[in-house]
Amino acid sequence: MTHPLAEKFAKTFGAQPDLMAQAPGRVNLIGEHIDYSQGFVLPFAIDLYTSVAIRIRNDGIIRIASSQRNQHFETFEVSEIKPGYGNGWVKYPLGVLWALKISSGADIFIDGKVPSGAGLSSSAALECSIAFGLNELFSLGKTLKELALLTQKAENDYVGVPCGIMDQSISLMGKSGNALLIDCRDLNATLIPLDLARAGLQLLIIDTGVHHALVDGGYAERRASCESAANKIGVESMRQLSISTLEDNKEKLSKTEYLRARHAVTEIARVLETVLKLEDFDYGAVGALLNDSHFSLRDDYTVSCPESDLVVNTANTNGALGARMVGGGFGGSVIALIDRAETGKISIAIEQAFANAGYKPPRFFTSLPSDGASLIN
Ligand code: GLA
Repeated sequence: MTHPLAEKFAKTFGAQPDLMAQAPGRVNLIGEHIDYSQGFVLPFAIDLYTSVAIRIRNDGIIRIASSQRNQHFETFEVSEIKPGYGNGWVKYPLGVLWALKISSGADIFIDGKVPSGAGLSSSAALECSIAFGLNELFSLGKTLKELALLTQKAENDYVGVPCGIMDQSISLMGKSGNALLIDCRDLNATLIPLDLARAGLQLLIIDTGVHHALVDGGYAERRASCESAANKIGVESMRQLSISTLEDNKEKLSKTEYLRARHAVTEIARVLETVLKLEDFDYGAVGALLNDSHFSLRDDYTVSCPESDLVVNTANTNGALGARMVGGGFGGSVIALIDRAETGKISIAIEQAFANAGYKPPRFFTSLPSDGASLIN
């Protein structure tokens, strides 16, 4: 039986693809806004994937289509690909072709199942599915770490979003049943088993429906504050800073720089603490760390929003062990660590709170930690 993606490809391009690949979105358990400060992060891949089908062409033409756009494709010249060429979402695939230095033509069909703007890394899923597929198809021999850096380069330099390295790393390296402790200084990753179901728990993912756009400037501004704080104190990044050194150097920083740095330093410590608590199966303590992370993102880093705060408060007052916004912030999703038996009660309470506040209904997901990028057979 033909794979539905191959069928869609054939309908659009009139031939079978040479190869198909997929890469997932992610949820970050803890470690927010510290990947670009060389910190530790603890994400896991979710079971929502972006798939791609690719066929090599020998005429130097690139054609890109997606299932969201019903057999319509856009045409490009591979020799023209450099930052500034292409508009809108096609900059992601073009950026990956550019970063991987692909010089052959190709037909590319994309089927995205990771909701965009929900803070679940639909962009990384898109970039990584294509990069993983091209790496195999053209036998480029890149490692997953190299692909993570190249897809980040595509997003930074071609799309123009100054993101860190977390999303691409987990989309490529995720392992089912595990979160991944990633050291963003060198991308070394350690599997951290995450079997919440065994403890009768689950991680509820609540998409607030508030659209976040990292290109809007808030993200770049946070990143710049951390860099200027590091400069003024004379350390390479927030990773090299302890809370006592930060306090000793408080006078050198603006109030904003101090608060941003305080988030970064305390968040890095919370990630390592969470790993220890997970090893002890102390989920009450993990929940408390999630809450602390949220409060720090809300108050020191100011990247939350009223909708995310409402989800966190409502989940907590209805029995969650802890909750926090995930991803870049300014909307997107919240995760809540809850007793599985309480899922209905907590979801209803959140829906009700949203209705009372006049917000549009949130969406609920759950996902077990899933595998990273792979080929589709
Ligand atoms: C976005 C970026 C990541 C990371 C998070 C915040 O998802 O793409 O690199 O900085 O925000 O933790």
